[in-house]
Amino acid sequence: MGGLNGKVVLLTGASEGIGRALAPVLLAEGCSLLLSARSAERLESLRLELGASDKVQIHVADVSDESACKDLIDACIDKFGRLDILINNAGMTMWSRFDALQRLDILDTIMQVNYLAPARLTHFALPYLKQSRGQIVAIASVAGLTGVPTRSGYAASKHAMIGFFDSLRIELADAGVAVTVICPDFVVSQIHKRALDGRGEALGKSPMQEGKIQSADDCAKAMLPAIAGRERLLIMSLRGRLGRWLRLLWPSLIDSIAKKAIASGH
Ligand SMILES: NC(=O)c1ccc[n+]([C@@H]2O[C@H](COP(=O)([O-])OP(=O)(O)OC[C@H]3O[C@@H](n4cnc5c(N)ncnc54)[C@H](OP(=O)(O)O)[C@@H]3O)[C@@H](O)[C@H]2O)c1
Repeated sequence: MGGLNGKVVLLTGASEGIGRALAPVLLAEGCSLLLSARSAERLESLRLELGASDKVQIHVADVSDESACKDLIDACIDKFGRLDILINNAGMTMWSRFDALQRLDILDTIMQVNYLAPARLTHFALPYLKQSRGQIVAIASVAGLTGVPTRSGYAASKHAMIGFFDSLRIELADAGVAVTVICPDFVVSQIHKRALDGRGEALGKSPMQEGKIQSADDCAKAMLPAIAGRERLLIMSLRGRLGRWLRLLWPSLIDSIAKKAIASGH
């Protein structure tokens, strides 16, 4: 996919799941990568897996901290001298009915990581993205397009993310900066076992039927054409694409599809 050769990509959430699977796919396209997450150990192991070349650099950051977001963008410029594509992938979720939440700060935590961090990173990256006429990729979710029971705070954060990046796309069109929103459906990753329960603790075990949902490798490969093509929106499942129309035409049906997906775990 020629469009990506030579691009400098900053990828958040690179230590696990979809981000970890996307790193080799982008490297194979000829990108230079700045890989970020909180776990230095997992980032280092990925760097070694990728062949430890100068084209792969790592930077540890907790993106819920505003100054860490600025440092991360600065690190990219220090290491590579430019930034072409910012991929806002780091994210987290919850798994609790709202009426069973015992701590409301779960909502703040999810909003910080899934919405405010991408907004802050984008703010600090914009001068460089304008110089390169680059691209911002927002890894959102089908939960950013419709309601999902047990994920109210997560769905809210992804709706916020999509609203933010859809607005930004219009503002940035004249500057030549593209905005690509990607909405995966269920994917095998760490996110489900790390999901916060009503007490704010990680579930520890995935409630998904992992054999029936997309692998992170398949997800990463399927995202590539949308990133390379600077596409506007990629909804990664048929039910996600149909859901856009059903929501208008038969909204109670999309509610029951979402309810069934959560109950069945796929
Ligand atoms: N898997 C799915 O079913 C699914 C479906 C739709 C959308 N998505 C979206 O896809 C993206 C990737 O998720 P995933 O499924 O690959 O999850 P994952 O396996 O749990 O990976 C999440 C990544 O985000 C990083 N991260 C989390 N909190 C962070 C923080 N405060 N600061 C910096 N990095 C942080 C994690 O690294 P550290 O722990 O090392 O910091 C990890 O690398 C998320 O935005 C998610 O919402 C996933």
